[in-house]
Amino acid sequence: MIEAPVGDPIRNLITPRALSDPASAWEPFRSRGGLWWSETLDSWVAASLSDCSTVLSDADRFCSDWRRLGEDTPVSALSVQTLDPPEHTAVRALLVHAFRSLGWDDLRRSTADNAERRLAALADRPSFDFMSEFAGPLALDTITGVLGVGLPDESRFVAISADIVDSMDYALRPETVEPGRAARGELAELAGRWLGERTPGPGERGLVGRLAASRRATDDVSETVLRNSLRVVLHSGYESASRLLGNAVLACLRSPGTLDALADGVTDAALQELVRCAGPVQAEARGCVRDTDVNGHPVRRGEIVTVLVAAANRDERVFDDPDTLRLDRHPNPHLGFGRGPHACLGAPLALLLTRTALGALARRHRPPRLLGEPVFRRNVTLRGLHRLDLGRG
Ligand code: HEM
Repeated sequence: MIEAPVGDPIRNLITPRALSDPASAWEPFRSRGGLWWSETLDSWVAASLSDCSTVLSDADRFCSDWRRLGEDTPVSALSVQTLDPPEHTAVRALLVHAFRSLGWDDLRRSTADNAERRLAALADRPSFDFMSEFAGPLALDTITGVLGVGLPDESRFVAISADIVDSMDYALRPETVEPGRAARGELAELAGRWLGERTPGPGERGLVGRLAASRRATDDVSETVLRNSLRVVLHSGYESASRLLGNAVLACLRSPGTLDALADGVTDAALQELVRCAGPVQAEARGCVRDTDVNGHPVRRGEIVTVLVAAANRDERVFDDPDTLRLDRHPNPHLGFGRGPHACLGAPLALLLTRTALGALARRHRPPRLLGEPVFRRNVTLRGLHRLDLGRG
């Protein structure tokens, strides 16, 4: 069923057609240029690479921490994602250090073994759902392995994780706010228990153990902020990572020959292009801290700027033939992992997982076949599939 267009083009982004076909979804935004006002979002909207990049790169003028605009943010909401420098710098440094000190060679090996094992178990089946039977479980195993924790109840986690993603679209779906807040609280509580339970020994290799140890050595980061930041790591490690896998496989299947090409190795350029075209993060928001301008367009203190990174990634002034997946595209200055102080902290892990999973799939099912219509989740901020049925090639 085709849904009728409505006045503010932002509203159309949540239609099944727009979610399934990013080229058509972002086309009207690319051609607008400059900042424009959205009644739906009650904010300015930036869609060009230059405007989006300017806003994301400048935390002095554009905040993630709404307390800088006088908002009363509850402590339960403070995390690496919602603080700005200098508080942000301390918690980010702690996380970056913990990520860097992971055993990356072991991680590469265990992720590859896991992907191969999961595909082998599906090999005799005529078809399988790539999302629930491969991408989701593989991403969850990977992030819990990195954290060095187990989940008490996986199906509960998957449900509340979806509540968090839904609530990112609160301007379009206000009914999602409360379930999202409750879900964040529940996950943060779980992360708090992990931190409290840990008495890391010298052989401790998980992120939680490392963070528990390094936090004891510094007072710069509160237990609450660390706990909430671990919640962000767990959630992004599952949702953003699995959604990237699904979107990337679909983008390849819709562009004949590309998945086959990945069987011989997934290059860095191919990974970056998949993030540009199929990255799940489509929008971010910042608050304007003082009267200023974005490339000549005035923005006043207190106003919000919504940054459409998915539109910026198809900016034809920067990317030739932006709707075509070109696995050797170079240069590729996309914003799929964000930019500036809040740029994705898990990018190396997300790339490791994507390289491993897509390479294994392409080699085993040369090339897999798309069965039926893919079903997208009703999420704009974090685009992703609910179901992607694949059959043997
Ligand atoms: C292993 C998986 C992942 C982990 C552990 C992870 C973790 C994080 C964390 C902790 C942040 C907050 C950083 C900060 O505010 O300083 C972040 C931000 C971000 N991540 Fe990831 N992430 C993962 C996967 C992904 C993927 C697959 C994408 C998209 C391709 C992505 C895109 C982003 C973006 C755009 C931001 C910036 C948000 C903003 O500017 O407000 N992440 N990530």
